[in-house]
Amino acid sequence: MSDLNAPSNAPARRGNGSRYLFMALLGLVVGAVASVMIMRAIEQREDPYPHAVMHVMAAHTHALKDAVAQNRCAATDVIPHLQAVRLMSNDIEPAFTDMHEDEKFAKYASELRAAADASLATPPLNCAGVQAAAAKLGEACKNCHDYVHE
Ligand code: HEC
Repeated sequence: MSDLNAPSNAPARRGNGSRYLFMALLGLVVGAVASVMIMRAIEQREDPYPHAVMHVMAAHTHALKDAVAQNRCAATDVIPHLQAVRLMSNDIEPAFTDMHEDEKFAKYASELRAAADASLATPPLNCAGVQAAAAKLGEACKNCHDYVHE
């Protein structure tokens, strides 16, 4: 039976030296692997622009639905949201550069802008009107989503 507390007979200096070398090499390998992983992650990081455009529009269409739910449908409650959707919809094509030659995609983007323009040209006067405007916008959103998921 060996006694673990007994002083080791192994030459201590040499033992530690190779252990440090091993740790140093291990550190280099781990560092190299980590930097490759980080480079990959950076390369694959998605462009936030298209997601941002969609999420901003979604936030404002939800705000319109909330306005109806809370019965707060004065022009000052809803027009800023309609304007925000209208403004953000200008960014659909620039954000989705891979779709820039797709005519149908452009058509659906225009239809959303047309729906937003119509709602701003004759702003809703009450919650029924806000609901109808939100439904028209929602339909324009859905038409394009159905198309891109075809
Ligand atoms: C002209 C096309 C088009 C229109 C119009 C459109 N979208 Fe999108 N939307 C897309 C595409 C493309 C994606 C991302 C691809 C996918 O869903 O597979 C997307 C994704 C989204 C997402 C998920 C975002 C993410 O991070 O992936 C939300 C939320 C969204 N859209 C909301 C809306 C809302 C709200 C409207 C209407 C006000 C709208 N979209 C109108 C094309 C469109």
